[in-house]
Amino acid sequence: MICLGIEGTAHTIGVGLVDQDCTVLANLTKMIDGSKGGIHPREAANHHAENVVPIIHRAMEEAGQSYDDIGLVAFSQGPGLGPCLRTAATAARALSLSIGVDLIGVNHCVAHLEIGRKVTGCEDPTLLYASGGNTQVIAYSGGRYRVFGETLDVGIGNMIDKFGRSVGMPFPAGPHLERRAKEGSKLLDLPYSVKGMDVAFSGILTAALQLRRNGERLEDICHSIQETCFAMLVEVTERAMAHVEKDQVLLGGGVVQNKRLQEMVRIMAEERGATMYVPPGPLCVDNGAMIAWTGIVMHAAGVRTPIGESAVRQRFRTDEVDLPWMS
Ligand code: ATP
Ligand code: FE2
Repeated sequence: MICLGIEGTAHTIGVGLVDQDCTVLANLTKMIDGSKGGIHPREAANHHAENVVPIIHRAMEEAGQSYDDIGLVAFSQGPGLGPCLRTAATAARALSLSIGVDLIGVNHCVAHLEIGRKVTGCEDPTLLYASGGNTQVIAYSGGRYRVFGETLDVGIGNMIDKFGRSVGMPFPAGPHLERRAKEGSKLLDLPYSVKGMDVAFSGILTAALQLRRNGERLEDICHSIQETCFAMLVEVTERAMAHVEKDQVLLGGGVVQNKRLQEMVRIMAEERGATMYVPPGPLCVDNGAMIAWTGIVMHAAGVRTPIGESAVRQRFRTDEVDLPWMS
């Protein structure tokens, strides 16, 4: 069975084709230009509407498949920006109806976890999901994927991108921040904000911009942002791992491509006799293949999404998802 998955929760529209062994036959993404400011939901949705059909055709071509070969259509049902979600959902409904196959609505956060589990081979991990809009620590407990900690304000990637925009870095700023941080050495004071199991980043942004106005070197500020934010993420991830007694940590989301973050998580894991797993970059960021793969897993477990239940869910929480494939 081949599943076509459509991702469209935020700034990226993605189409992936995946078979039942999780062979990725195609995985194409297109991102809006975020250099001018934050994401405008309506503009992002227009971008997705313009691009989704051409990307579907290109993915089919790249995979060498015809529409008769598609056995299932999956889409990101939430959480995310309403207009973006609705665009991806509309395309998915239309495609599933026109080729006459089942439709599956997928939780975006669960998709990061499922693709990571499959491609890295870890079975029961604690997921550190750090992306533009999301920052969560998730693990399987009591029949659900539960959120053990999360950001109380913005996602870590959004904070990095906002900082980058203010200091003239291209969008997305993450890789530029990482490069600059390598040349920094001075650890400047930034507010380390861990509250229980949760984290907060907006105070760090304000403080980092103030350091810049005070004339600190950009390299040192980038270094300090990484050291402070990543230490916060590692602390809550470790606490969640101890709580649920798990010895696997999986990384997901665009920010985990950062080598310094990977190094810090790996050291934490090794010190507690645990193992870190990192999926390949194109499967870490928002992409259609993770939606397609999760669709296959859900479908095999008997889950279906009738059109009448396919409305998008902007605040779709990770722990609302039934996981019949886990029991
Ligand atoms: P979401 O999953 O919340 O919808 P998204 O679509 O914004 O979010 P991703 O595509 O997973 O997120 O990741 C994009 C983010 O990753 C951007 O904020 C970008 O700056 C950040 N990023 C990419 N590479 C790096 C890096 N090397 N270091 C730090 N951050 C990075
Ligand atoms: Fe994501």
